Amino acid sequence: MEKKWWHSAVIYQIYPRSFMDADNDGIGDLAGVIGKLDYLATLGIDVIWLSPVFRSPMDDNGYDISDYHDIAPEFGTLAEMDRLIAEAARRGIRIVMDLVVNHTSDEHPWFVEARKSKDNLYRDYYIWRAPRADGSPPDRQRASFGGSAWEFDPATGEYYYHLFSKRQPDLNWENPQVQEEVHRMMNWWLDRGIGGFRMDVIDLIGKEVDRGITTEGPRLHPLLQQMHAATFGHRDVLTVGETWSATPETAKLYSDPARKELSMVFQFEHVTLGHHPEHGKWQQRAFDLLELKRVITKWQTALADTGWNALFWNNHDLPRAVSKYGDPGRYRVESAKMLATALHCLKGTPYIYQGEEIGMTNVRFDAIEEYRDIETLNLYRERTAAGVPHESMMEGIFANGRDNARTPMQWHAGENAGFSTGTPWIQVNPNHREINVAAALDDPNSILHHYRALIRLRKERPVVVYGRYLPHLEDHPQVFAYERRLGEERIVVINNFSGQTVELELPAELRHRAGECLVSNYAPVRRLGERLSLHPFESFALALAA
Ligand code: GLC
Repeated sequence: MEKKWWHSAVIYQIYPRSFMDADNDGIGDLAGVIGKLDYLATLGIDVIWLSPVFRSPMDDNGYDISDYHDIAPEFGTLAEMDRLIAEAARRGIRIVMDLVVNHTSDEHPWFVEARKSKDNLYRDYYIWRAPRADGSPPDRQRASFGGSAWEFDPATGEYYYHLFSKRQPDLNWENPQVQEEVHRMMNWWLDRGIGGFRMDVIDLIGKEVDRGITTEGPRLHPLLQQMHAATFGHRDVLTVGETWSATPETAKLYSDPARKELSMVFQFEHVTLGHHPEHGKWQQRAFDLLELKRVITKWQTALADTGWNALFWNNHDLPRAVSKYGDPGRYRVESAKMLATALHCLKGTPYIYQGEEIGMTNVRFDAIEEYRDIETLNLYRERTAAGVPHESMMEGIFANGRDNARTPMQWHAGENAGFSTGTPWIQVNPNHREINVAAALDDPNSILHHYRALIRLRKERPVVVYGRYLPHLEDHPQVFAYERRLGEERIVVINNFSGQTVELELPAELRHRAGECLVSNYAPVRRLGERLSLHPFESFALALAA
């Protein structure tokens, strides 16, 4: 496998609206990010993935772009963006931008033009269909944020297509002009010195609307190859696609370097495991470690020689890792460290979502009015109107609503967690008095210092980056154990995913082995006997002596 810088990189995702507010208008901004670069450098990360900062009416917090070549005034200016790129570079950090090109905002000048008349030059930048004889939408496709995927536009008497909100019309990727415009815009940003792109819902751009094919449509891979050739192919950057539909087989298509598409993709099989077959994310299912291990092992094995994995527990669309997979209460610190070890010792590029490194948790707002996320609000309305009881919908929101990840970053125990002296656009989690960066920096045993150690480990030990993955104790319902091997080097990683003490019998090949304990969340473990007793959420990585 040809080595790439992003194989050994650790990425930190920033949701700018909630990270740090320098001008105290209640909304995070670029100046706020610049002010925290030293913090990020201390953590040791290599790349920032910046969620969208482009000009936008903020119907979906910036995932609805009205100008790809400018920064939203609430976030700052282009000059500040250039300063962020330069200041990050001085600290050895690259900035990966969010590329949102499945759709634009309805305020993008292309759409403003397109809806004027059927023969407008920009009409074909979007997807239009005539109503059926009775005036109803062309078909029954649904949008992810509720309602029909078709919105009637009275000016021209046709429907336009949107897979997200009606203020996010889908671009028509069959139109070569759309392809060229996007390529030109990507090159414009690459020329400014960015480190690559995270590609929003990129598996949707090859869609065939009339056949109802939305994900991984037949033109998807040709489009990505074309994009590669026209933009980043000759530059040394990281590209990561957001692909909810990826399977191990398609992930190889995206990420096999020989195919000249993307560096890697985010796949969501481990995420959707926790969703209900009928009610999806709005009805939580108990999380089953055996299933989770099976999925992780499947992906680690499938991409062992071809392609590359992106590793993550959470992001701005998902609940907080410690709330979903750990224990946000009594064992918050232990379980957050365990989750970090379990993920960062796998093969692939790890992503940390802001606040994960201090063990931030989900939030429970008392009233639906406190929520800000368009998906949460729309689906609350749609589902309660269809008869789902309020309490049951709120339970779904507490478990999986996107605002769990979007409460302001907790910098210190004081007012608004140090995020802003203005009124934050969304409430701060009241637990910021205990859970915050200042406290974590002061405490040598904090989750934050554990993350620093794991990031350092990746830099120091090639086995963490390139070692083969081997599962152990595959049928154990509480413990996730695996090994990484590179040449003579062997690292054993053992994680108790339960709040109970677990006694287990070790597999023969691990018995009576000793070595160096690389990380742990209780006392270091330096030798293995025949049996092992693990504390609640205990976890460690042991480099076996040859
Ligand atoms: C992606 C983003 C999400 C956004 C959606 C539409 O899933 O991560 O935040 O709402 O795409 O752009």
